[in-house]
Amino acid sequence: MNVGIDVLALATGHYVLDLRSLAAVRGADPQKYTLGLGQDFMSVPSPQEDVVTMGVEAGLRALERISDPTTIRLVLFATESSIDQSKSAGIYIHHFLKLAPSCRVVELKQACYSATAALQLAVAFVRQNPSDKVLIIASDIARYGLNTSGEPTQGCGAVAFVVSSSPRLLSLEKTTGVYARHIMDFWRPNGQDEACVNGRYSAVAYLDALGKVWEEFQHNGGVSFDRIDFICYHTPFTRMAEKAFVRHLEITQSTKKTLAHLSTLLTPALIYSRCLGNCYTASLYVSLLSLLENTAGDLSGARLGFFSYGSGCVAEFFTGILSSGYRDVLFFEAHAQAIAQRLLLTVPDYEAFYTQLSSPVFAPDSCYQTGPLRFLGIKNYQRHYDFAR
Ligand code: HMG
Repeated sequence: MNVGIDVLALATGHYVLDLRSLAAVRGADPQKYTLGLGQDFMSVPSPQEDVVTMGVEAGLRALERISDPTTIRLVLFATESSIDQSKSAGIYIHHFLKLAPSCRVVELKQACYSATAALQLAVAFVRQNPSDKVLIIASDIARYGLNTSGEPTQGCGAVAFVVSSSPRLLSLEKTTGVYARHIMDFWRPNGQDEACVNGRYSAVAYLDALGKVWEEFQHNGGVSFDRIDFICYHTPFTRMAEKAFVRHLEITQSTKKTLAHLSTLLTPALIYSRCLGNCYTASLYVSLLSLLENTAGDLSGARLGFFSYGSGCVAEFFTGILSSGYRDVLFFEAHAQAIAQRLLLTVPDYEAFYTQLSSPVFAPDSCYQTGPLRFLGIKNYQRHYDFAR
């Protein structure tokens, strides 16, 4: 039985910051951001956006392609920007998407890896229940603090994917390689809304994990590097994914792929990340969408590899085969519009948004640009939303 991703949709914040204007205010060389990190813009959430508003927008888009949403019997919400210590953000998604009451809903956490954990759990669930579907929402807001070295790698976004049997987008292959190890490269203690990070160490740990999962993938009988047509790497900033590709070439000593292939095999997968920034759990799947929506021509039948990395750390390498006709379920125009129509912020406005997001007040009369769901703030310890549908 083929099981995998049936539909994949993206949403992001409705504001954007040009990193060249940030560099000017921070006194940095803009090329450090655009070349050194490989980032041009970052998506910025307004005070009326959060992981739920982005997740609902992506979820509504994904459901446009699902003829019978009552077949969704499990919702997995993957995030490291949790809004509650107890209640899953997935319950809000389940509510606003009007899903059937006979449905399991849960939130998963392991830094950027948890969307991949959700995917593997969903695949196992669908293998047991082939007529059921699983909705995964991966939604995050990356925050390192104003004027920190991580700041230019911030961003936000959500992906919604439906996992089913006979998937119209991508069938997952069974062999994977996984790796877990307790390290302190990046974490966010309770009560803090910004990540703690040992930045340069985290990059070393990421590349080390790539080597480990590849070794395990090969040990488990996975296909050779040369039999994988395109690879999507977790993309905290695009230079990191490029470094991963180079490391992958070194580890595998490929004879068919060389550095010269970087622009054709990897660059299309980085276009969205370059202008959204790090979307944490969603980032790997943003990269998949970027590859599919920015590569001219039909890649049906191509084998894709995926390197998922979540700090702390857990990593996984796995592969999948693109379904024939996959282009019919993509959202080329809607995604291009979501990215192009973001409103450009000045640095002072971005800083004001950033600060307000740390301590949301109840302000139902504010009218920032949002998607169909608007976060109104917190009253009596409860989050309030206004849904425009
Ligand atoms: P930094 O230390 O300020 O920057 O922050 P740097 O000095 O290392 O410079 C960055 C690059 O720019 C270097 O390139 C410089 O040479 C270059 P490299 O040597 O690495 O190839 N550079 C320039 N290039 C052109 N013109 C110039 C110029 N100046 C310098 N004038 C750091 C960088 C990544 C550490 C920081 O942004 C950070 O801490 N980011 C957050 C952590 C992160 O993204 N880590 C990635 C791996 S861990 C991961 O992916 C997991 C994560 O997504 C979280 C999760 O799992 O939940 C983060």
